[in-house]
Amino acid sequence: MFLKNNLGKGDIGRNDPCFCGSGKKYKKCCLIKMEKGQINQPSRVINRSRSFILGMVNACRLTRRTLEFLTPYVKVGVSTEKLNQLAHDFMVKHKAYPATLGYQGYPKSICTSVNEVICHGIPSERELVNGDIINIDVSCQLDGYYGDASVNLGVGEISANAKKLIEVTKECLNLGIKAVKGNSFIGNIGYAIENHAHKHGFSVVEEFVGHGIGRNFHEDPQVPHFGRQGGGVEILPGMIFTIEPMINQGNKELRILKDGWTAITADKKLSAQVEHTILVTNDGVRILTDEADDDPIF
Ligand code: MF3
Ligand code: CO
Repeated sequence: MFLKNNLGKGDIGRNDPCFCGSGKKYKKCCLIKMEKGQINQPSRVINRSRSFILGMVNACRLTRRTLEFLTPYVKVGVSTEKLNQLAHDFMVKHKAYPATLGYQGYPKSICTSVNEVICHGIPSERELVNGDIINIDVSCQLDGYYGDASVNLGVGEISANAKKLIEVTKECLNLGIKAVKGNSFIGNIGYAIENHAHKHGFSVVEEFVGHGIGRNFHEDPQVPHFGRQGGGVEILPGMIFTIEPMINQGNKELRILKDGWTAITADKKLSAQVEHTILVTNDGVRILTDEADDDPIF
């Protein structure tokens, strides 16, 4: 989703009220505790009912299954509109609604972002050709709950550079997920991602962020893919959000096409993205869009 403000970058200011609700300034409260290593426990937990968890698990597993269903169709000669139709029919057949369809006027049931397209590529009659890389982003609404995930695939034989970009992007997502653990902050996620991308000479798109998700497609918190450790809001058990880094081969600048959606790299170099929806637990995370249908639900 679009970054609404500068949250990720500015983070919580030293003089802002502390996020823990103490009423003290951040610098006189949790910042000191953090610097002294005194915070080991999250300040609170978000309670989720069993029916809420069940709803999210089902929506996210169907999202994963939709992506798995689509993957074998991603071949030379298939149009992105064909992928859109396949995904649409699959979701509807499983009693889900494609969350993107009609979302703020978005016209299709998935996003297909090819090569220099960063995100929100609109499926069209354009056929995939050998060497393309494509991000397929699927968002399902099932029984009122949302799941959101995306994969990045190569079409036919792709260049070594393209392969590398996709690999590093997946590593960025995994490192971002790893940064979500007890006593962590949203800024730690972006820090881990940015660090890794830069290490490989790639850049991180800042205008689009991960997001809380639940009974709404997009909720707080915003999850920037850049940041600093200890910045942003505290990560609490019970939070559910996406991490969806967009990593560019060249620089991080983007342009939006006249359709109002398609974001492309300003330098027309490749961009890759992968996304998961995760649930923060008391002792770690569950990657809801990576769970198998027969994994335990509770
Ligand atoms: N995963 C993307 C997001 O959270 C999906 C965008 S859907 C669109 O922003 F409708 F906004 F294109
Ligand atoms: Co998303």
